[in-house]
Amino acid sequence: MPCQELEMRYNRAVVSSPATIANFGPGFDSFGLCLESPVDLISIKSGKPGSVQVKVNAKDSIPSDPDKNTASYSASRMAELCGHPDVGFTMSIRKGMRPGSGIGSSAASSVGGALAMASLLGVRDKVLVLEAAAMGEELISGARHFDNVAAALYGGFTAVADLEKRKIIRVKPPVFDIVVVLPEIEVETRKAREILPRQISLADAVHNLSLASGMMHAMTKRDVPEIASYLDDRISVPYRKSLVPGFDSVRDAAMGAGALGMSLGGSGPAMFAIADGNAAEVRTSMTKALKKAAGIGCSSFVTRPGAGAKLESLS
Ligand code: HSE
Repeated sequence: MPCQELEMRYNRAVVSSPATIANFGPGFDSFGLCLESPVDLISIKSGKPGSVQVKVNAKDSIPSDPDKNTASYSASRMAELCGHPDVGFTMSIRKGMRPGSGIGSSAASSVGGALAMASLLGVRDKVLVLEAAAMGEELISGARHFDNVAAALYGGFTAVADLEKRKIIRVKPPVFDIVVVLPEIEVETRKAREILPRQISLADAVHNLSLASGMMHAMTKRDVPEIASYLDDRISVPYRKSLVPGFDSVRDAAMGAGALGMSLGGSGPAMFAIADGNAAEVRTSMTKALKKAAGIGCSSFVTRPGAGAKLESLS
């Protein structure tokens, strides 16, 4: 779906692009919740045609090869979709999140890169940005799934309602505290997808379908305890638990400390819980349980649903 050929209309753009929780309980490859923080900051400057340079500022090792970096890769795909295959640019990426931690690091960079390029070109069509960002996601995970990228781009709670028609449902969620725990292990999304069974039982399909319907209803009603009550899953979590030592203990600790619900973030190892005015206690219980049950350290934070990727400046 290429757009009309356009000239670079601006010289420099800066975009912030947030972390997300994909699947959000029962919505495997469909649901996504945008987080207020952390965010990646992507800055792009137009350059000589054909020349692409990438600078990465991150604690972790992230490729600066333009064909391997998801932000620059998505920016180039965005330019192609707009009839600019030879676009040149320099990009600088400040990572706010750790890759492979389960909070949509590659989606944040992909959306940030695609939106930054769209901004330079003066393109406002978010469907094209979504498409280019999903190509960046595919580069990393081996599958063009839209759940993280849709939530990072549009903000709030999103559901991929029809993948072929690129139909994304967007719901403004209520405000609630989300405790996120990131174990100090890496889970590659590609591997976490490979271990999933190719077929699931009818009972499990019905279970997830029922929970997902309930979740969508609870989101539109903006009922936080009800939202949390649907955070269960029989399609991916039972299989992926093996990649996240201590998952059951962390869930028990969260619920024991009064969390309203808990699940795995995306393909893991991130775990998240919805708190009810008790985020500090829930966070402490989860991190202690992870250490005690699995001997694994973690980082953790408390955040809220966020509004999505944002153009910070354009000149
Ligand atoms: N829906 C994807 C998965 C998200 O669970 O594999 C990956 O972050």
